[in-house]
Amino acid sequence: MAFPEQVRLVEMSPRDGLQNEAGPVIATDIKTGLIDRLSDCGLTHIESASFVSPKWVPQMGDATEVMAGIHRKPGVRYSVLTPNLRGFKSALAAGVDEVAVFGAASESFSQKNINCSIAESLERFLPVMEAAKKHNIPVRGYVSTVLGCPYEGDIAPEQVAKVAKALADMGCYEISLGDTIGTGTPLKAKRMLEAVASHVPMDRLAAHFHDTYGQALANLYAVLEEGIAVIDASVAGLGGCPYANGASGNVATEDVLYMLNGLEIRTGVDLNKLVATGKWITGQLNRHNGSKVGQALQS
Ligand code: HMG
Ligand code: MG
Repeated sequence: MAFPEQVRLVEMSPRDGLQNEAGPVIATDIKTGLIDRLSDCGLTHIESASFVSPKWVPQMGDATEVMAGIHRKPGVRYSVLTPNLRGFKSALAAGVDEVAVFGAASESFSQKNINCSIAESLERFLPVMEAAKKHNIPVRGYVSTVLGCPYEGDIAPEQVAKVAKALADMGCYEISLGDTIGTGTPLKAKRMLEAVASHVPMDRLAAHFHDTYGQALANLYAVLEEGIAVIDASVAGLGGCPYANGASGNVATEDVLYMLNGLEIRTGVDLNKLVATGKWITGQLNRHNGSKVGQALQS
């Protein structure tokens, strides 16, 4: 067991965190205010918006305005989701640094989330990959439902590995493995990761764990032991997927950072500023702060 010396935290709150907020569409300046506060915390990779259909995900309908409104900090990557070529073209016009395509290990989830089969989704990503290569834009790939599907239950690790490998083979520089509904447990997470890592090198993999069942930190500890060094998280634990009923947000960035600090793993992120950011955004949204560390340090 050897933990990495350094972990890259990929901040999800402006995208995964806000995409599922109920009620009226959140004002663009709250979104840009969140992103600017996050970059000031020392986060170097912030998923900032989604260029998806606004009919499907109304909260992300102002992606172009968000990208235009942020104060770009040198050295920070501001990435966005692009499910198809149309999304990629809009993202490019908005001046993004990086895009991401998102598929799933479960057929039913793929249908509900992006309205096509896994095979069709991979076909759809090809022109995005081609266009991104032409414009020198790095592409991240997501695989959802890696530790369970809301419609199909258990997902075979080999199935996750197959989709992850397909995304890596088509040129995604990194594959983020999503426990979309947070049902995973540590041993399951390790087994899934071992299956994937036998097809895609560990240094091209990231963990994207939702905390619905309160297992995310334990699962992260388990995959850190396996060599994962990139972790997706969302300040105040904001978020959830609109196509996975009841799924709560990503593991809270504050909680992950507190654990990594305790393990003496470097991230370059300032915990106090992050806690203040979690407090600010939950105040703006009038929402419960899902970070235990955030709650403890605020009180
Ligand atoms: P579709 O209906 O199959 O495609 O949607 P379509 O090409 O027939 O388009 C339907 C409508 O959307 C048309 O408009 C298009 O113009 C428009 P209409 O003619 O009806 O007025 N459209 C677009 N508009 C803006 N930007 C675009 C775009 N593309 C089409 N790029 C599509 C297919 C993928 C677009 C749709 O299913 C969609 O937008 N889905 C959103 C899925 C989503 O954002 N889910 C949440 C993010 S994934 C996630 O949270 C999981 C993750 O966090 C990892 C994890 O936790 O597991 C990443
Ligand atoms: Mg997610």
